[in-house]
Amino acid sequence: MSKKITVKTLQKIKDEGGKFSMLTAYDYSTAKYIDEAGVDVILVGDSVAMVVLGYDATYSIGMNEMKIFTGAVARGAQNAFIVADMPFLSVDTDIASAVKNAGELIQAGANAVKIEGYSEYLLSVVKRLVETGIPVMPHLGFTPQSLNQLGGYKVQGKEQDASEIILQQAKAYEKVGAFSILLEMVPEKVAKYVTDNLKVPTVSCGAGKYCTGQVLVSDDIFGKYSDLSPKFVRRYGDMKSLILDCAKKYNNDVKSGSFPNEEEVF
Ligand code: KIV
Repeated sequence: MSKKITVKTLQKIKDEGGKFSMLTAYDYSTAKYIDEAGVDVILVGDSVAMVVLGYDATYSIGMNEMKIFTGAVARGAQNAFIVADMPFLSVDTDIASAVKNAGELIQAGANAVKIEGYSEYLLSVVKRLVETGIPVMPHLGFTPQSLNQLGGYKVQGKEQDASEIILQQAKAYEKVGAFSILLEMVPEKVAKYVTDNLKVPTVSCGAGKYCTGQVLVSDDIFGKYSDLSPKFVRRYGDMKSLILDCAKKYNNDVKSGSFPNEEEVF
């Protein structure tokens, strides 16, 4: 029997007061292991621009790259629900292009798309995508594609009326059919207020424990990416040391002549 996670599974988890896990992945093998570990949702995040491709910000990649990484993840994951990021500029010109781009990510293997930010225009994009049969997860709070406008990695929603503003935006998205709302780097009490007042599940990225889902960048929790270390990340491993150790041993073995040995040749 298929254990494939769907939008219905995620809604049921919210309705029953449960929690779901979400991690980024960008390649076939990592997606396969994350799926095997039982993680419910895999995000093909545009963080791939930074952690895999070495750019300074997420806005540096476009649709071509996102389709390639989404396809690789989809081929690796069996059960996890796959969300792909709509990259910078892929939704912002007009609704027809947004539908085409989102559709191409679905054709590449995603089950849903994530869109950063809020505006009347984006509301109409989300409405149209949902009408087209594409599940959408809007991303509110800190939105990395707007890094230049936000002036750095800063907690959002600290103002007096922030809870109300973010809730109104989230509710407007819920009304046009968004299946879940991601909240990044907002105070825990804001995320709780939004979560308590929405029917659909919320996902926290550094927004505290009250959301239905939690998401982190996998290269951060594996201890592989070391250029940034956000306060909200919990590191579960030290892949950087593991890679250094393996590469150093291989380098030494090649140079000392101990690799390859007689069992490693034809
Ligand atoms: O691109 C990404 O990895 C994200 C998460 C940080 C939420 O959007």
